[in-house]
Amino acid sequence: MRFEDKRVVITGGSGGIGHTLVELFAREGAKVLFSDRSIEDCEDLSETLSQKGLETSFLAGDLRQKPYCETLIAHAVEKLGGIDILINNAGIIPRGNILETTDDMWFSALDVNLNAVFFLCRAAIPQMQVAGDGAIVNTSSTWGIYPGPDHVAYCTSKAALAALTKCLGRDHAQDGIRVNAVCPNEVNTAMLRSGFIRRGIDPVTAVEDLGKTVPLGHIAEPEEIADVIAFLASHDARYVCGETVEVTGAKPVYG
Ligand SMILES: NC(=O)c1ccc[n+]([C@@H]2O[C@H](COP(=O)([O-])OP(=O)(O)OC[C@H]3O[C@@H](n4cnc5c(N)ncnc54)[C@H](O)[C@@H]3O)[C@@H](O)[C@H]2O)c1
Repeated sequence: MRFEDKRVVITGGSGGIGHTLVELFAREGAKVLFSDRSIEDCEDLSETLSQKGLETSFLAGDLRQKPYCETLIAHAVEKLGGIDILINNAGIIPRGNILETTDDMWFSALDVNLNAVFFLCRAAIPQMQVAGDGAIVNTSSTWGIYPGPDHVAYCTSKAALAALTKCLGRDHAQDGIRVNAVCPNEVNTAMLRSGFIRRGIDPVTAVEDLGKTVPLGHIAEPEEIADVIAFLASHDARYVCGETVEVTGAKPVYG
């Protein structure tokens, strides 16, 4: 029970890594408020967890909207009594080089992957400062550290998120707030599989083939990323601050 009575906000809670995180934190005693776009998906997850004896709450909305980001933190303060841990997990992956990237793709990537994190952190940090304690874990990507091909909006947004993480980690360490990021390589979620489907490739076979390129023998399952995020949010990582932690199964990023 590493997170007994901790008040935790998780974005992208209905997604592949997100729903694993919501369950993990709830199982370990946290009071979880999660966020995602679709109210139906949030209700389904909440109901599924409730059937397992895990009570969670959610606030559905669009992270591209600044008022929603600020309301999410205000909601945590009102309903949970504060916020101890913020997990910025939501993300989107517009695909294409610069010539294929529309204004909407560019602004959406920056809005969801970067600006929402800025608004959420700016609202949450004063709450954590009062408590003199807090942890924020952002989900960047190996492609935020070593940009891959033909994903200009995604890589740029994740690189900026990695920089934001280091800035906040440095600026707020003296407040007792630790800010870190996890940088996964390939993870077996809808986000990854959508890339294969888009190219007309069977995602099951593609995930198996991709696993053969990873020294540890498989691409990451959501649990293998969620466990690292939980570690970074936990007391066990009390001396880890301002870091971008690469989680790759020893696979070098595409060159
Ligand atoms: N899957 C991978 O290979 C991989 C690799 C590196 C990093 N990541 C990162 O991991 C995180 C989780 O991704 P995932 O793989 O679980 O993908 P996913 O698509 O399953 O989950 C992302 C979630 O974010 C939510 N979201 C997107 N836009 C939103 C918006 N405007 N408002 C509210 N919610 C919104 C989605 O609805 C979804 O539930 C993302 O930040 C992603 O960039 C994933």
